[in-house]
Amino acid sequence: MQLVTGNWKMNGLKSSLKEIESLVSGLRGRTRLPEILVCPPATLLQSLGPVIQGSPIKLGGQACHAKESGAHTGDISADMLKDAGASYVIVGHSERRTDHKETSSDVAAQAAAARRAGLSAIVCIGESEAQKNEGGTEQILAQQIQASVTADSLTPETAFAYEPIWAIGTGKTASLNDIDRTHSFIRARLEERFGLPGKTVRLLYGGSVKPSNAREILNLTSVDGVLVGGASLKADEFLAIIEGSRG
Ligand code: PGA
Repeated sequence: MQLVTGNWKMNGLKSSLKEIESLVSGLRGRTRLPEILVCPPATLLQSLGPVIQGSPIKLGGQACHAKESGAHTGDISADMLKDAGASYVIVGHSERRTDHKETSSDVAAQAAAARRAGLSAIVCIGESEAQKNEGGTEQILAQQIQASVTADSLTPETAFAYEPIWAIGTGKTASLNDIDRTHSFIRARLEERFGLPGKTVRLLYGGSVKPSNAREILNLTSVDGVLVGGASLKADEFLAIIEGSRG
């Protein structure tokens, strides 16, 4: 089943719960849906619980600390996310790698913490514009796959998200050919690294996915879902993206 994920980033107040209410009513009665995941800021997880109850929407966190608890002011553990109603957590998003200097080994420790807490990780990888221009895309992706998660952190729901950094929030999307070629490369590396789980783990595309391009991206056989930032904030746009899924 494809996985359509909304990453709200640092957006959303209690007033945004109405977007999820609209999403829930927009989804009512629909069949052949993909798995649908919303990752709001952690402050909204708890209050979203009753809103999504009985709907196909699941909740995820956007990041977690590698430790279970302790003196880490401002951080959130995987157990806390689970306790607040999450079943997934995004790890290694490029904004965390940049803003918080998180390395691939930090990401691997966070993915392990997610597994211990009973969450499935969505592990983000992707090249910068400079790396792409230097022809270094495959090398950086191979390194990130090697170092960002260990085999014992995988669950049947674990997903990898290929997010070219130059496509995030820019309105620029990788071409369908490039997505397909890069996903095939990533899939081969995942199989090499993890064996059978590397064949079945879901591989999402992220970076300026919107209603106008979602259907053709989700139609690629190498794409098992999408990770959507900006366009997940509005129920009608996110719904249109969900409708583009193969289910
Ligand atoms: P975007 O963000 O859809 O706004 O480009 C995607 C992401 O960063 O997950």
